[in-house]
Amino acid sequence: MVQVCVVGSLNMDLVVKTPRLPQVGETLTGAEFGTFPGGKGANQAVAAARLGAAVTMIGCVGADAFGVQQLSGLRREGIDVARVRTEPGAATGVAFITVDAAGQNMIVVAPGANMRLRPEDVVAAARVIAAARVVLLQLEVPMDAVVRAARLGREAGAIVCLDPAPAALLPDDLWPLIDVINPNETEARVLTGLPVTSISEAERAAEALLQKGASAAVIKLGERGSVYVSTTGRAHVPAIPVKALDTTAAGDAFAAALGVALGEGQALPDAVRFATHAAALKVTRMGAQSMPTRAEVEEAMAR
Ligand code: RIB
Repeated sequence: MVQVCVVGSLNMDLVVKTPRLPQVGETLTGAEFGTFPGGKGANQAVAAARLGAAVTMIGCVGADAFGVQQLSGLRREGIDVARVRTEPGAATGVAFITVDAAGQNMIVVAPGANMRLRPEDVVAAARVIAAARVVLLQLEVPMDAVVRAARLGREAGAIVCLDPAPAALLPDDLWPLIDVINPNETEARVLTGLPVTSISEAERAAEALLQKGASAAVIKLGERGSVYVSTTGRAHVPAIPVKALDTTAAGDAFAAALGVALGEGQALPDAVRFATHAAALKVTRMGAQSMPTRAEVEEAMAR
């Protein structure tokens, strides 16, 4: 069983289904409202656990009902949350999400306790990171904690995967610590300054990510699939056509599946294919953590 350590965010997602996404200044009447556990870090932890990994989560929640709910949800998935700190002075992170009839979303996050994660928390969990085959990172916690986790992961010989979301520039010292970076189009544009509107542009942006120091780059292009570039090869991998109900956390399903597959020793092309199927299954379901199981992904791949 591959050991995965996730260093990242935990949010409660407050989700409204609407016929379409609102315009600036518009009041739009939606349909159902629901609360779902979310946060890019926690979503990736759940996805990795359902794909068969032994998962440890490092993060921070507030001393409130949402925090309690987050932790018990992750425990139910078999995830080790001993390294998720409860911060008395902060609220658990919250995400306000609108999902339209086509499953597309708009997300605003109030990070709360996520921004209280300190490099010291990461260092205190150094043994957990050292035991991991894969370290999954995102950017919803402070950058200095991300850099520290990447460094500890690299020193321990783990595969360090960064999902650079939400989009942000990275410090120079983080780049050489990244084994695989997997941005979407917007994030790739922010990271490289290059346009990413086509497959060939995505390939050029992926090359630029390697020049910055990452060992491999996978750029997610939504319905157009993804493009990967590494020192050993490159390709465009088409998406799996599905009827989307909720695209929230499709990127998290992708990131976790990619990490799990690489941790199991799969080559990058196979890992991207595995991740593509995991993400496709996720978007057919409501809620960020409605992640597919290993059996479901393998069955989809066999079809
Ligand atoms: O990637 C999706 C996630 O982004 C949501 O669950 C929300 O909490 C935000 O963090």
